[in-house]
Amino acid sequence: MAASSKYDMTIEQEYAARFPQSQQLHREAAAHLPGGVTHMARSFEPFPIYVDRCVGPYKWDVDGNRYIDFWTGHGAMLLGHAHPAVVEAIQEQAAKGTHAGGSTRREIEWAQLIMEMVPCAESVKFTSSGTEATLLALRAARAATGKSKIIKFEGHFHGWHDYVACGVVEPFDVPLSAGIPEAVQETVILVPFNDPDALNAALDASDDIAAVIAEPGGSYDDAVPSNPSFLAHLRAETARRGVVLIFDEVVTGFRYAVGGAQEYFDITPDMTTLAKVMAGGLNGGAVVGRRDIMAVFEPTADAHWNRYQMVPHPGTFNANPLSAAAGVAALQIIASGVPTNHAQEMMDLMKRGFNEVLTRRGVPGCAYGRASIFKTYIGAEAPRLTRLDFSNLKDDTATLLRGTPLTPLLRKGMLLNGVDMMRAAGFLSAAHTPDIVEETVQAFDRTLARMQAEGAV
Ligand SMILES: Cc1ncc(COP(=O)(O)O)c(C=O)c1O
Repeated sequence: MAASSKYDMTIEQEYAARFPQSQQLHREAAAHLPGGVTHMARSFEPFPIYVDRCVGPYKWDVDGNRYIDFWTGHGAMLLGHAHPAVVEAIQEQAAKGTHAGGSTRREIEWAQLIMEMVPCAESVKFTSSGTEATLLALRAARAATGKSKIIKFEGHFHGWHDYVACGVVEPFDVPLSAGIPEAVQETVILVPFNDPDALNAALDASDDIAAVIAEPGGSYDDAVPSNPSFLAHLRAETARRGVVLIFDEVVTGFRYAVGGAQEYFDITPDMTTLAKVMAGGLNGGAVVGRRDIMAVFEPTADAHWNRYQMVPHPGTFNANPLSAAAGVAALQIIASGVPTNHAQEMMDLMKRGFNEVLTRRGVPGCAYGRASIFKTYIGAEAPRLTRLDFSNLKDDTATLLRGTPLTPLLRKGMLLNGVDMMRAAGFLSAAHTPDIVEETVQAFDRTLARMQAEGAV
């Protein structure tokens, strides 16, 4: 693509020239880390920016550029980066030791807060990540029901362990990763999302179903939003058949509402998996749920139960003191509802601003979102989802999950304008203000102007 008269370089050319330190670090990383990155979502051509520090709504790269950040720690930083109360709690705990090799008061406080906030949480089992939480939840559901199969929705992401690697990206009959045994794939029944008839058919087809697991906000961080009436149907049908309903609220927890998507939609699952926001920006996760199901984790006086029916759960870093300190500090602030509501208001502002820019510039596309999670799609393939219209979602599913071919160029253009989006999406936080959102909308406007000048859109 040629540079337009107004710009000396194209977006691609300027990106390649503008971040020399990041480029150099990426060369070094490629020699040490497979693919040069430590999370597949951070992979970016020709190289990603390297981050030096993050504070509030901002991050700075190693070349000294400042960005408004919409990754917000893959959604973990609902309070923004380095919130003073969280930093203080981490520093205080670090000086007192980061691993007790024993029980601590903090883990009880952490569990109490979660139980007060999350409707289905009648007790709490801590893990070190969201992936561990979904792995453990599926195991607990199987142990509690004595059944072996799991229903999972196409396009839903629940971490990277074998069971949930099935049906994440198209083609859905090929797992996300190589190395998943066929025997594992056979225990996972894939069902299209938001489709009550397909769900009923799958539930009817087997009497060996332990659980249904779902991202309640929608597939892949809400890219394909959930239809509330489908969620209600899912709740009713699983309850009627005694199948355990697991909401994976690793992303939606504390973000859709203080009590997560289950509070937002007023639909209480049997079990829930949590991570991200709950650990205040450190690593941590949890399985919470109905006490009778959570009882599978409890040893009793019955040696036979303990050896043959219980789900033991080791894990060196479960509820480690540092994560517990950060989690308690963050959740104490989040419990008021103010951060969650603020982030949602900022998302609405941003969505409106982006859609106005798209309309004014005549660029096909849409910005949409729910709670404080927003998505943007531009280009001829982009769906028009300014309002959540569930009748059209089916046709748009592939594009919604994949993004459009212009997504990487849009991200580069936004980076050159001081905004770091996660693909063309992101998470708002309590640290994003109306001024920052306005700055972001202007950056979007400038980016689209440049893409139009280049003839990209
Ligand atoms: C809905 C959902 N579940 C589970 C996970 C896995 O969590 P973690 O990355 O902490 O293993 C993620 C991660 O992004 C997620 O979005």
